[in-house]
Formats: sequence, C-alpha cells, structure tokens
Amino acid sequence: MLFKAHVDIAKYSGMAIPSIAHTFVELNRVEEIPEVLQKLGGHEEKIHILGEGTNTIWGSSIITRPIIKINIPGFEVIEEKPDAMFVEIGAGENWDKVVEKVVNLGLAGIEALSAIPGTAGATPVQNVGAYGADISQTLHSLRAYDIEEKKMVTISANECNFTYRGSMFKGTAKKRFIITSILLSLSKKPPQIPDYKDTKAFFEREKKANPTLQEIRGAIIEIRKLKLPDPSVIPNCGSFFKNPIVPKMQADELKEKFPSMPHYPDPNGVKISAGWMIEKAGLKGKSFGRIATYPNNALVLTSLHKDAQIDDLLSARDKIVTKVKELFDVNLEMEPEIIS
Ligand code: EPU
Repeated sequence: MLFKAHVDIAKYSGMAIPSIAHTFVELNRVEEIPEVLQKLGGHEEKIHILGEGTNTIWGSSIITRPIIKINIPGFEVIEEKPDAMFVEIGAGENWDKVVEKVVNLGLAGIEALSAIPGTAGATPVQNVGAYGADISQTLHSLRAYDIEEKKMVTISANECNFTYRGSMFKGTAKKRFIITSILLSLSKKPPQIPDYKDTKAFFEREKKANPTLQEIRGAIIEIRKLKLPDPSVIPNCGSFFKNPIVPKMQADELKEKFPSMPHYPDPNGVKISAGWMIEKAGLKGKSFGRIATYPNNALVLTSLHKDAQIDDLLSARDKIVTKVKELFDVNLEMEPEIIS
C-alpha cells in the first residue's frame, strides 16, 4: 500500500475538474485492506473508493475524505465447463483490457461492453451497460471486503439487486463493501449480434449475419468513437444523465405529443431517451461557458477548458435539467457521482 498526501486528483476523474486529495491510498493487494482501514482510523463512512474515476466528479477543490484507489490485479480461469468458462478478475484491472483478453480467448458475454472506460471492480456498482448488455447478465458473483463485519465475503449476482444503472452498492449497501474481484460466467457458444439498433444496422451494412467476437468488439469500438469522446482527449464522464424511467401513462402522453421520441420497455415503466430530449430542447453541441454538450451526442457533457470548475459544471447541468423539465415535464437525474 502507498499512503500519499496532497495528491492532484484531477486525472482520477473523467471530467478532469481540478482537486487535491488530503489523503490518497493506493491499494494493491486484498490482504492490505484491514491495515489500511486501521491506519485511516475509524472513519470508514467517509472513505471514497476509487477505480479510475470515470464516473466520479470532484465536488470541491480540496477533498478531505480519504480516497482509496483500488489497483488489485488478477485474471484467472477458475473453472471450465463444456459450454462456459468462469474467469475471476481483480477489481483494479482496466475493464477494456479485460474485454479484449476475454474476446481473444473466444469467450462471449462482455463483447458489447467494449471500450467502456474504468476498472473491472466498478462495473457492478452501477451495473455498467451498453448495446443491450449489462454486467448483471455475465456476473456470477463477486468478492468484497465487508467493512461492517470486517471480513471478506462472496456476494452472488442475485444479491447485488441490479437495476438499470444501479445496484445495492449505490443504495442499501453504499459504503459497506470494498469490491476486490468479480467472477464472470462466460460462454463458449458463438456470439450473437448485440440486440441494439446501432449494432444491428452496422452488421446489416456489412452484410454479416454471424460476426465473430472480434468483429463485434470492433463494431462497438467504431460506434462508440462516433458518439463518445475519449476522456483522455476531451474530458467527459460518458452519459451525464440517466435515461429517465417514467410511468406508462406519462410515456403515452409524451409519445402522442412527440411521435419520434425513442422509448424502451423497462420493468419499472418506460425508459425514454435523455439525449433525444436534450437535443430536442436545442441544447446539442451547446456551450455553457467552459462546459458544453458534445456535438455528436447531447447526453455527454464535456469540459472545454482545463480550469473548468465544479460550479461551471453544476450551472450547465441545472440549465439543461430546467429546460428539459419545462418542455417534457421530466426530471433528469445525473449519472456520475459528485464527491465532496
Ligand atoms: N439521441 C438523440 N440525440 C442525442 C443522443 C441520442 O436523438 O444527442 C437518440 C438516439 O438517436 C437514439 C436514442 O436517443 O434513438 C438513444 O441513444 P443511444 O443509442 O446513443 O444511447 P443512449 O441512451 O444515449 C445509452 C447509455 C450509454 C450506452 C448507449 C448504448 C445511458 C445513460 N447511456 O446511451 O452508456 O453506451 O446507451 O447502449 O443509459 C454511459 O453510461 O456512460 C454510456 C455511454
């Protein structure tokens, strides 16, 4: 483990808002957790667990709560079955490198989640998803340190209470666990074209009914490049808002008023497209001082200047939320987390 003081943490945030951490700990091994927690001296509820910070926004110029950056490595085949393979992955592994390795092993299940920035350990927290897939579909279980019970535990996918962009790690069990590894159940069967408009159109154009895993990964990377800027070049957190889930009655009214509005079924109502609403509100590619919506995707907020501050971002967010509320009577909720 490595304890550091006064660390510049702008680079540990997709949005790159400047900030300094008082206490920053790099955690490299599971065995170090009890000692790290002891050294931090009983303020567990204040600790922030950090992966690569893709979905983290620093909410003030100095962060006094201790930050533990998870670097735990690992990529190990645990069990092989005729049709499946179980692979355990350290929480600190870069997610896209994991997807690349899994695809190269000929295993299906996470290829649609290619090119998503961040760490493997972060994927269950917000049930990372794209192109019709999400991590809940391939996660078998995970290992975590239970801060309350002071011991390592195994948590099954079922126990994670996954929802759209959510899990118990963002809700009832927030701050209780430090995820140390994830166990994926991957398939040896031939892959399917991801069930999503953009991917289906891609392979229709290519005239390929049975693409390989590599071809699917390649397609996803190409599609994402068009709509999502690389955070190391243009600071951003991916989708800045969640797609709102509204009651069916409200969705029906909206569909009548706006027949072209994209909508998707969801167990809790109807999911409607935040990006479409922001574009419809005339805010696609619009600059709000040092923050702007991305010209190719209104759902992505980008920072236009290295000195963009949290207030610039919050003011841009509030303007977008207000305009969408006025036009559609829908409340947009932020996807990334603000840490102060
Ligand atoms: N749309 C617009 N204008 C825009 C953006 C989108 O009209 O500026 C329309 C699109 O044409 C489409 C619909 O809105 O009909 C949905 O857009 P898209 O397929 O691009 O997906 P999304 O809802 O904007 C979600 C995820 C992304 C994920 C993509 C693909 C959320 C909040 N976002 O975006 O996840 O990559 O689907 O599966 O669910 C992320 O979470 O950071 C992220 C990038």
